[in-house]
Amino acid sequence: MRQKPRKIARYVPLAALAGLLALAGGRRASAQTATLQHGSGAAASSNQYVGNATCAMCHQELASQMAGNPHHKIAMLEGHAGHTCESCHGPGRAHVDGGGDITKIRHFDVLTPSQIDATCLSCHAQTHPNFMRSPHGRAGVSCLSCHSIHKAEPETTLLVATQPLLCYRCHSDIKPSFSMPFHHRVNEGLMQCTDCHDVHGTFQANNLRNTVDQNMVCVKCHIDVRGPFVYEHAPVKAEGCMGCHTPHGSVNARLLNMPNINVLCNQCHSQVAADTVHGMNSGSSDSIPCTTCHTYIHGSNMDEAFLR
Ligand code: HEC
Ligand code: HEC
Ligand code: HEC
Ligand code: HEC
Ligand code: HEC
Ligand code: HEC
Ligand code: HEC
Ligand code: HEC
Ligand code: HEC
Ligand code: HEC
Repeated sequence: MRQKPRKIARYVPLAALAGLLALAGGRRASAQTATLQHGSGAAASSNQYVGNATCAMCHQELASQMAGNPHHKIAMLEGHAGHTCESCHGPGRAHVDGGGDITKIRHFDVLTPSQIDATCLSCHAQTHPNFMRSPHGRAGVSCLSCHSIHKAEPETTLLVATQPLLCYRCHSDIKPSFSMPFHHRVNEGLMQCTDCHDVHGTFQANNLRNTVDQNMVCVKCHIDVRGPFVYEHAPVKAEGCMGCHTPHGSVNARLLNMPNINVLCNQCHSQVAADTVHGMNSGSSDSIPCTTCHTYIHGSNMDEAFLR
């Protein structure tokens, strides 16, 4: 970045201002007028800045589209002195004096991913503090790989494409699992990749969303298996759901990570089949699924063998 971004207020005041905007009727047109006036009014505080009204003279279309962009709220920062365009593009006086000299304005095409991220994070670090050490941040997948300020898809959070297409652009290897006979219905639009992942980085492996109880991105929706139970099945808490399930899709109707329940159980309970109460020898163990009897496989409040 050539210019150090101006210090701006963080989300607490922002939220308050958003409230004020709503109180004022939330009328975008009037908010935009305020933007332009305050933007040009503030130009006096730093003669590097020209204010939005000046940008709008030559970039009319982009400037008028800004009214429908969440970033019109930048104008409300710094006690209504925020510079909407110049908060991202840097001070514009040299560009304007040069009659639109494109070498004198911050131009995202020529920035490196980390320069782009730093520009966006100058305001968004509070909500996405882990981005730079996330798999995306480290791999140079910048904010603009997924977001666009001026050319976003309608009805998205300023995304360049809707989910899951956005994700499949780079993660085509994941796509086949969502076409398997049994799968979480992401392609059908019933849920999204980001119900389970936070692509901006988390404290979990695989960008899994942080939740209050660790491992438990799944029990947000599958509440009945969460417990706590009087009799816990140890691996549910110890290994987590992935000890037995696969998250995206499977040939198994219960999304098990093994094609057969008994093979799954016998990974850890191989002794059970022979010479026990079951009377199942290892040859017959496949014939009746273990869960025919051990119905409450995630834990039970009634029976220590999860029979009921
Ligand atoms: C006097 C007219 C004028 C004003 C005022 C002006 N620009 Fe420009 N700007 C131009 C012209 C001309 C270009 C080159 C356009 C092109 O090549 O398509 C340009 C290009 C740009 C580009 C690069 C576009 C690209 O090709 O990638 C950016 C970013 C930009 N302006 C931002 C701003 C901002 C922000 C402001 C207000 C601070 C501003 N401009 C004010 C005339 C102006
Ligand atoms: C939140 C940051 C941000 C704000 C605010 C912003 N821009 Fe941009 N601008 C970008 C980014 C990022 C790009 C690269 C293309 C994209 O993502 O849409 C860009 C691209 C441009 C371009 C190049 C043409 C194009 O469409 O690629 C021009 C010109 C421009 N902006 C002018 C403006 C003007 C004028 C304003 C104020 C009305 C403004 N920008 C406000 C971030 C911003
Ligand atoms: C000068 C501060 C500032 C900068 C720089 C900035 N933003 Fe924002 N951004 C905001 C504000 C303010 C909002 C509106 C927040 C709200 O509504 O609570 C916002 C909202 C957003 C949203 C949410 C949109 C929605 O629909 O909820 C996205 C996505 C976003 N910004 C991405 C970016 C990206 C990508 C960049 C870098 C190109 C960037 N921002 C640069 C201040 C900024
Ligand atoms: C790999 C794609 C991807 C990258 C890279 C990415 N985002 Fe996002 N972003 C998304 C998606 C998808 C959503 C909507 C779902 C969600 O909230 O997780 C989103 C939502 C947001 C939101 C609004 C919701 C919220 O959580 O606040 C903001 C603001 C935002 N992104 C800013 C950024 C910034 C800033 C960067 C770069 C530092 C960035 N994003 C990088 C995909 C991405
Ligand atoms: C522009 C390309 C790109 C887009 C778009 C993209 N990703 Fe990624 N993603 C990557 C790269 C590169 C990595 C890091 C290298 C790797 O692990 O594959 C990564 C890593 C990940 C990881 C972590 C993998 C791990 O091994 O820890 C997850 C999860 C992920 N992406 C999910 C998503 C989701 C969900 C979306 C859509 C909202 C998305 N990505 C969009 C390129 C992308
Ligand atoms: C139901 C929750 C859930 C949904 C929905 C989901 N994921 Fe995942 N994803 C996970 C879990 C859990 C893991 C970790 C798997 C493991 O530990 O073996 C994972 C792993 C990954 C990985 C890294 C490991 C690998 O298999 O390469 C990528 C990349 C990924 N997911 C991308 C996506 C994309 C893209 C989407 C949407 C099309 C998506 N995920 C939807 C839960 C989910
Ligand atoms: C956003 C909500 C949500 C999250 C998060 C979620 N699921 Fe699901 N899950 C569903 C829904 C809805 C279904 C029903 C499938 C369908 O018919 O579309 C389902 C189905 C299942 C099934 C098959 C159930 C059956 O009745 O046959 C299993 C197993 C499962 N999920 C495990 C998991 C695991 C493991 C995780 C964490 C990696 C997880 N789920 C995360 C919503 C969710
Ligand atoms: C020890 C292995 C194991 C672990 C760990 C495990 N499950 Fe299961 N789960 C199963 C088996 C086996 C079935 C199939 C039961 C059947 O067919 O009757 C199942 C079935 C399910 C179902 C389908 C509906 C139901 O209750 O039968 C859901 C949803 C589910 N599991 C979610 C989860 C979640 C969420 C986690 C993590 C909190 C988890 N499972 C951990 C073995 C496990
Ligand atoms: C990842 C290893 C693992 C898998 C897979 C697994 N279990 Fe377990 N299971 C355990 C552990 C560890 C215990 C606790 C043993 C103890 O306390 O002695 C346990 C306990 C049990 C108990 C109660 C035992 C007792 O002593 O009261 C039953 C019944 C049981 N498992 C059945 C199953 C069935 C049926 C499956 C297949 C659906 C299965 N388990 C899959 C590890 C596993
Ligand atoms: C026909 C019903 C039935 C089937 C099928 C069944 N079990 Fe059991 N299992 C029981 C009963 C009954 C008990 C004894 C409970 C008690 O003592 O309270 C038991 C006890 C257990 C125990 C705890 C006692 C021990 O011997 O360690 C484990 C572990 C276990 N079963 C695992 C399995 C596994 C793994 C399978 C599949 C290979 C399986 N069971 C299939 C009915 C069954």
